[in-house]
Amino acid sequence: MNQNSVPLLEAARRYLDIDHAPFYMPAHKRGQSIDREFMALMGENIFRLDLPELPDLEEPVAEAEVLAADAYGSDRAWFLTNGSTCGVEAMLLATCQQGDKILIGRNCHKAAIAGLVLNGATPIYLPTDYLPEFDLDLGVSPKTLELFLNQHPDAKAVMLVSPNYFGVCGELEKMVAIAHSFNVPLLVDAAHGAHLGFHPDLPISALQAGADLVVQSTHKMAGSLTQSSMLHLQGDRIAAEQVDRALQILRSSSPNLLLMISLDVARRQMAINGKELLTETLRLAKEARSQLNQISKLRTFSQIEISTLDQTRLTVMIDQLNMTGFEADIYLHSQLDVMAEMPTLTQLVFSLSLGNTQTDIDRLVQGFQKLGKEKANSEKQTANLIPNYQSPIPNYQPKLTPREAYFAKSDRIPLNQAIGRISVESLCPYPPGIPLICIGEEITLEVVKMLQAILRSGGIINGASDETLETILVVK
Ligand SMILES: Cc1ncc(COP(=O)(O)O)c(C=O)c1O
Repeated sequence: MNQNSVPLLEAARRYLDIDHAPFYMPAHKRGQSIDREFMALMGENIFRLDLPELPDLEEPVAEAEVLAADAYGSDRAWFLTNGSTCGVEAMLLATCQQGDKILIGRNCHKAAIAGLVLNGATPIYLPTDYLPEFDLDLGVSPKTLELFLNQHPDAKAVMLVSPNYFGVCGELEKMVAIAHSFNVPLLVDAAHGAHLGFHPDLPISALQAGADLVVQSTHKMAGSLTQSSMLHLQGDRIAAEQVDRALQILRSSSPNLLLMISLDVARRQMAINGKELLTETLRLAKEARSQLNQISKLRTFSQIEISTLDQTRLTVMIDQLNMTGFEADIYLHSQLDVMAEMPTLTQLVFSLSLGNTQTDIDRLVQGFQKLGKEKANSEKQTANLIPNYQSPIPNYQPKLTPREAYFAKSDRIPLNQAIGRISVESLCPYPPGIPLICIGEEITLEVVKMLQAILRSGGIINGASDETLETILVVK
């Protein structure tokens, strides 16, 4: 197909020139009544193109989705304007229902737990491998998947996260082969993988590996506007109508055209210039890594062998600097104008993508040089902040399905007295948004200690109805 064409951008441009009396929504009528200060800040066209689903735009949207399917190598693509959150939920709603089992990586995003509340299915959580020296979640291994599929051959689907927040993709081709050998479809939350498949030095994409249904946050890694994502279907294990039905329920009835246009142009950019742009991103990431490795007490993943690591994701281990990642994040941000994507207790994760420049890398390296000098001799120890906890991702099966627990009668009790009770809420450090306690799981002492340590050291816990974590909602 002609990947140079951008049907939605072209249709939008035509609309700029059409002079008409707009009696449709949104109420600002192409910016005519928009707040003037906002207009002055943003420019005029953004409002002139904030249009509803006008009949003339239906065909260009369909054409843009066909081009996206072609570029990414899927059979069908859907543009999403509610992020991959909507896509993850749709994948679950399209494939499983109450009474069905689904094997799901325990490192899933909280959107997957929301999807399980919606579909009522019974999750069998797949434990993930963990590399303690680098506090690194390696995702689900093929061995684990095979073991669990042998125990649960009646599972309706398998769902994995690839890449994870650290860029670890895992052995997806093997996973696809295993799932398919049990005649089970593989759903992949590739929220962090919209750039994969466009450069030979990056891990292969989930679609190239043969996954059946894949969601990608185009906005995270491939240059579209925040909240715009794509859902891709491949093969015939899952019917397109099932996905359509799920999206009918989950999607807004007023998709934002600006987000859709941004998906159209991001697809063109990836298809036409992706390789060249990613070559530069990979070069910058390599340079950053090699310079950071020279700074005393800092480590990056170049010191470990992970064949399926997306090298555009840069994790810096700061555990030997006598500070937590949360402290380092605040320091870099407030003193040195460098903003990371994610702090954890032991790391800072930087997301490098098409938009980064040499200047960004220089600032990053200089920031760490300064931080290293100032903090290396600090007396403060972080060891006592980090509980003796083997893996940040729990590894046990839920007591109730997320749906059962979500709708159960609940009691609010002190968190410290909640050990052994079943949680009604999902609590996750954000980012990465992986629940340490999932709705329906038993609350354990280790997890409570971990959550409290994260909160104490400046992390954000999302999903808690009591932000102080003093109390929690448990099943009555
Ligand atoms: C693994 C994973 N899945 C899904 C999501 C949700 O994506 P979105 O922000 O596009 O809704 C995220 C967001 O961070 C994520 O990390």
